[in-house]
Amino acid sequence: MELHIDGSSHLRGEVLISSSKNSILPILAATLLTSDKVVINKVPNISDVNIITELIYRLGAKVERNEKRIIIRAESIGVSPVYELVRQIRASFLTMGPLLARHGKVKIALPGGCAIGTRPIDLHLKGFKALGAIVQLNSGNVIATASKLKGNHIYLDFPSVGATENIMMAAALADGISYIENAALEPEIVDLANFINSMGGKITGAGSNVIKIIGVKELKGSTYTPIADRIEAGTYMVAAAATGGEVTIKNVIPEHLKAISAKLVESGAQVLEGDNYVHVSRNQNIKPVYIKTLPYPGFPTDMQAQFTAYLSCAEGSSIITESVFENRYMHVPELIRMGAIIKTEGRTAIIKGVKELSGTTVKATDLRAGAALLIGCLMANGKSVITDSEHIDRGYENIVEKLNQLGARITRKQNKGIIN
Ligand code: EPZ
Repeated sequence: MELHIDGSSHLRGEVLISSSKNSILPILAATLLTSDKVVINKVPNISDVNIITELIYRLGAKVERNEKRIIIRAESIGVSPVYELVRQIRASFLTMGPLLARHGKVKIALPGGCAIGTRPIDLHLKGFKALGAIVQLNSGNVIATASKLKGNHIYLDFPSVGATENIMMAAALADGISYIENAALEPEIVDLANFINSMGGKITGAGSNVIKIIGVKELKGSTYTPIADRIEAGTYMVAAAATGGEVTIKNVIPEHLKAISAKLVESGAQVLEGDNYVHVSRNQNIKPVYIKTLPYPGFPTDMQAQFTAYLSCAEGSSIITESVFENRYMHVPELIRMGAIIKTEGRTAIIKGVKELSGTTVKATDLRAGAALLIGCLMANGKSVITDSEHIDRGYENIVEKLNQLGARITRKQNKGIIN
């Protein structure tokens, strides 16, 4: 799939943000913790959600999906998610905690690498072992077994989002009390804890670096609506500033966007915050900024690529340090093809601002790199084509329609259209 974009758009108008991909994926996994009916509302139509929903269905759960609602009933489910889906999406590993807690066993293919680094699961496995599981690796699979999980203290060497979520889900049905220390603080962790508590769980401290989980015998069904997607919102905020437009981004939680708003204001954009919206505009030249990505509430790594595109036309040199992932600059060679001047050294990128980018054909390598290229193409002078644009559809619902409503001129194409 390709996107064909006419550049030099000034985005104007309003855009409605969908529910958070990175909330929904662990919440869908957590539906495996009960055999009762669970209803998740406002679920966006994005491929990552579709893959995890398919994986849960192939495990044996009853799954109904109409419009934005997913109804899941995991009455009798297997212990081994199917390989061809696991290898497509890292979030498959979030089923390990629930399956281990529910069945006392889980068997899953080891993670392959992905475009943004090796992304091991050693901290997830450390947590399961601390809860009493026996973990074995053989012929490309990891198998964890436990007759009964027992509460314990788990210290995370790094505040891993996925490890915090997986351990929280496993501990929810363990015997006794667990503490996750140096836990991730992301809003999606809080959302997952709130969801599990709505099922009868007893989790406190989510959003702080110590999460306490009192194990319960069983969890019940629930109806839940996840929070808004702060990275989708941030992407539209950057697109508005990058194109020198004026956009109101609605259905957001401004508190979750603080680091993004701060860096946009430092770069010369205006950000006005309402209760559930932010208004972004820019009517002066882009100023260079320094950015270091950090776990929440630091600057989000999932916004690094989008800012790299935006700052490629700043008046001066910006420096970005990617401290969360070891290889998250796959968008840089593509932006250089558009005329950006960027030098990467390990985890650091130095972006020497240019007057403008030129449209050409570029290739999306992963979700946020694809979003960055889309921003670059909207800024660029002339026409562009983004190939492998499926990566973008993994995490952005109706992004072409939403951007075109703001005045962009984007069309989806199946064929290979190469420009100069
Ligand atoms: C979640 O991934 C998000 N995905 C990512 O968003 C996000 O970039 C990341 O958190 C960081 O915020 C979902 O929530 C589905 P981590 P996750 O475990 O859980 C290392 C997007 O674009 N690590 O916090 O995989 C790891 O290698 C995606 O929406 C270990 O070393 O992230 C990485 O360097 C991309 N051992 C760092 O921690 C482990 O056991 C952060 O990983 C686990 C992680």
